[in-house]
Amino acid sequence: MLKLAVFGNPIAHSKSPQIHQLFAEQIQQQISYEPILAPLDDFVGSVTEFFQEGRGANVTVPFKEQAFAWANELTPRAQRAKAVNTLIKQVDGAILGDNTDGVGLVNDLLNQTVVLRGKKILILGAGGAVRGILQPLLAQQPQELCIANRTVEKAEQLCTEFVDLGPVVACGYDWIETPVDIIINGTSASLHGELPPIAPSLIKAGHTLCYDMMYSKQPTAFNRWATEHGAGQTLDGLGMLVEQAAEAFYLWTGVRPDSQAVLASMRASLS
Ligand code: ATR
Repeated sequence: MLKLAVFGNPIAHSKSPQIHQLFAEQIQQQISYEPILAPLDDFVGSVTEFFQEGRGANVTVPFKEQAFAWANELTPRAQRAKAVNTLIKQVDGAILGDNTDGVGLVNDLLNQTVVLRGKKILILGAGGAVRGILQPLLAQQPQELCIANRTVEKAEQLCTEFVDLGPVVACGYDWIETPVDIIINGTSASLHGELPPIAPSLIKAGHTLCYDMMYSKQPTAFNRWATEHGAGQTLDGLGMLVEQAAEAFYLWTGVRPDSQAVLASMRASLS
């Protein structure tokens, strides 16, 4: 029995146990994958105890930075993200920290046959969620990746840290109006049904793809806005959630699950 878990606070809402159980059923592997509510002031105590027997874990809000600090070793993408969402116990007992969020986003886009290479991509937001996706996105060689944020200094700081990986620039929401190929909403504004104040002219009707890293049963505020202004396609973050999980599952088991079947099942069970 492969002992796995997800740590967060809160954690009851997490869909990860359901996703990983579906992956495990596909390959007929016995796993236990528990949601663990770590105390806000003792993530380290909780995760240390788990790994006495545990083999791998996911980490979600608000512990990704603490997991980054706690892991014994880090993958290059976790180092760039400065956050860890996947912990893997290695044969020598050391804990490796990785970040599968960005590859989850890119794989979801590639699954939808979205081409990123040579495209003008606008990212809204410059918080932890956006930091985690920059390296995998830049690896796809976009023509330009523009990070727009309410607090422009945070977007500029990200550019400074990632400019060695590709063409990345920073701006404020009201600095930009010419159409782009892809807009990715990585702000937490959707959580409150709000929208970053961006110009509708950023959308080229029938062409621009709009992707909200959030998801819900009903279209998100950002995706409703995009549809109203004629976006070519809108996608939400449920595919990213399933794909980041698929990458973690692969790291723990060495097997790539059929993520599309699981995505369809998760979409059907959204409430
Ligand atoms: P996360 O881990 O979800 O990225 P975060 O690090 O707190 O959370 O970042 C939240 C992001 O959403 C930031 O880019 C924030 O903008 P600021 O850096 O200017 O604060 C953005 N954000 C949150 N609420 C917003 C709103 N109502 N309108 C626009 N941007 C918003």
